[in-house]
Amino acid sequence: KRRIAVLTSGGDAPGMNGAVRAVVRMAIAKGCEAFFVHEGYEGLVNGGDMIKQADWEDVRGFLPEGGTLIGSARCMSFRERWGRLSAAKNMVLNGIDALIVCGGDGSLTGADLFRKEWPGLLEELVGKGELTTEQITPFKSLNIVGLVGSIDNDMSATDATIGCYSSLHRICGCVDSINDTAQSHQRAFIVEVMGRHCGWLALMSAISTGADFLFIPESPPSRDWRIDMSTIITKHRKMGKRTTLVIIAEGAIDQDLKKVTPGEIKDLLSNELKLDTRVTTLGHIQRGGAPCAYDRLLSTLQGAEAVNAVLEAKEGTPSPVISVIENKIVRQPLMEAVRLTQLVPAAIEHKDFARAMELRDAEFSE
Ligand code: F6P
Repeated sequence: KRRIAVLTSGGDAPGMNGAVRAVVRMAIAKGCEAFFVHEGYEGLVNGGDMIKQADWEDVRGFLPEGGTLIGSARCMSFRERWGRLSAAKNMVLNGIDALIVCGGDGSLTGADLFRKEWPGLLEELVGKGELTTEQITPFKSLNIVGLVGSIDNDMSATDATIGCYSSLHRICGCVDSINDTAQSHQRAFIVEVMGRHCGWLALMSAISTGADFLFIPESPPSRDWRIDMSTIITKHRKMGKRTTLVIIAEGAIDQDLKKVTPGEIKDLLSNELKLDTRVTTLGHIQRGGAPCAYDRLLSTLQGAEAVNAVLEAKEGTPSPVISVIENKIVRQPLMEAVRLTQLVPAAIEHKDFARAMELRDAEFSE
């Protein structure tokens, strides 16, 4: 019987539980044994009861739950070789040779590195006397499959990451609530949303809520953004709009890569336009809560496909990541997806904003 483990890593995202549930149940349905690794890579490094066999009933009720019920961590020790050695030993001791990781690009890169180092890690463990040749013989290769769980929707090669639509939905709900006060008092609100290097949440929520102005890292505003923003907002107010909404991504920058802060926008709106202005940073409210229907569906289909990918893996083929492209669940080469993902922050760092936008456009149109 194949023994397949699942873990969630990095920032939690709504829908991760659906992915874990689907992996466990699909694995069992296909005649395999399933394992939870608790607390992300931390659990793999520490072993013991952080790695537990998962039965069909163990994932009952997982679908509507937010966060990740098996725990997650931004694990430092797995970045070190000693951590990966310990993780490899725990995999062998538990008879596990396939790992499905649900996380962001950093977590998936770690998984692929683990796979590349795999036979070497085992040989080193034998050399150190921590495992015997007999113990490692059945574990010649390791299967890794990635699932992208992140609210940021910052991974190339997939149209949507698990969690991004739940987060977008929550942001819209929060902005609607804020808008009640804005409307009542004719106020201006600056709402900061998450997204690290990726402006997807900010852009999509700005469109969905009818924001007046938007700041995203991939496409900083013109050098005259203060004048542009004032002109637009003044025009909207003159047209009879009682509210003003500015959405700013947490990673917003200007053309010189200087951080644009909600505070400086507030000063401008208050002092120049004389608007009664408030700042709301949504923070982790936008990451938690029940997954929306789309994330339940996406995580279930992708979790099941991840098990298929493990069972159909061929020796020497690159690790896949499970994506959704034009509504189809597909497998893509994991490291190529990571490479493309990292091109955007690199373009931003080089102030090549046209390239950053071109890459983002390509992500959503290819
Ligand atoms: O990657 C998901 C994310 O929520 C980002 O949008 C945000 O920048 C980051 O995680 C926050 O991380 P933490 O919860 O560790 O503060």
